[in-house]
Amino acid sequence: MISLISADEIEEGTSKGIELNNLYMFAVKKDAELFLYWNRCPHLGTPLEWEEDRFLDSDGALIICSTHGALFEIEGGRCLAGPCKGKHLRAIPFILDNGMVMVEESALRVSTPLQ
Ligand code: FES
Repeated sequence: MISLISADEIEEGTSKGIELNNLYMFAVKKDAELFLYWNRCPHLGTPLEWEEDRFLDSDGALIICSTHGALFEIEGGRCLAGPCKGKHLRAIPFILDNGMVMVEESALRVSTPLQ
């Protein structure tokens, strides 16, 4: 297992970009629950954030793509509005171990195709 980040580094209601060996991901903490996705919009494959560590809309309710404004559910990553409506952000399976977000190496070898 690979340790990505401490869950404590992500404040409630915020998001954080994570880079590991040129792989780009991000995590969101909502209602004390963590969600982890590849940082890749299912529309054109671009990174989502509009500023460093800023992946959420203005009220922190949805993930937003900075390129064309697609809106995604934090839980599940489904696109609710925008050019990729109905598609999903690609989630990365993880476990929490002693407060650390841990992923299987094999999960990081998976490529991140558009969905
Ligand atoms: S690249 Fe994300 S909405 Fe177009």
